[in-house]
Amino acid sequence: MSAIKLAPSILTADFGRISEQIKAAEAGGADYIHLDVMDGRFVPPITFGPLVVEAVRRTTKLPLDIHLMINNPEAQFDAFAEAGGDIINFHIEATRHADRLLRQIHTLRKRAGICINPATPLSAIEDVLDVADQVMVMAINPGWGGQKLIPSMIDKVRRLRAMLDERSLSPDIEVDGGVKEHNVASCIAAGANVLVCGSSVYNGDASPQANLAALRKAAAKVTA
Ligand code: DX5
Ligand code: ZN
Repeated sequence: MSAIKLAPSILTADFGRISEQIKAAEAGGADYIHLDVMDGRFVPPITFGPLVVEAVRRTTKLPLDIHLMINNPEAQFDAFAEAGGDIINFHIEATRHADRLLRQIHTLRKRAGICINPATPLSAIEDVLDVADQVMVMAINPGWGGQKLIPSMIDKVRRLRAMLDERSLSPDIEVDGGVKEHNVASCIAAGANVLVCGSSVYNGDASPQANLAALRKAAAKVTA
């Protein structure tokens, strides 16, 4: 089993001291910083754009995992690549041309990820699995942090892992939404190797470092 990557999402972080919050995640052993871009159309909320990504880029050397929850994502690939994104992920529900878009991201020399909402069947992405570097399985309906993981999404991850194994493909499987200490093990056992953790890292209860350590410990139990 490949090493498990933890990708803190700053969606529930304190934006008034964002660089400090990112440095805390870095000190806690984060593998990526996950950035949730929302346009008020693909999902109801609006978050931030390339300007904030660029500011985050100046704060950390960690790979930036850009999660585009926006319509017409291809119009923004250049801007997020230039702002310092390393992995550019868009939603299958936002395009009819996922194959072309994944290849477009590759021409920018970035890793290309495809995201899939809870209601979308895996068959929708089946034919682009060989072009994607990462598949992001949404375990919640996108738009907000702090929601509960939808249990049936664990089985979706398992079915995706089986599809990939059958074809000897190895994009990363990232789970996004509701990942907590108590379900980290089931995500990994189902075949995920990248875990987005938003409110389980930035929650005001404990420091991002302490929260990441707890998540890492829960992950280590499965991979040991
Ligand atoms: C929601 C975002 C998630 C979110 C995760 O649409 O894509 O990345 O921040 O937050 P938690 O871990 O709290 O569900
Ligand atoms: Zn996300």
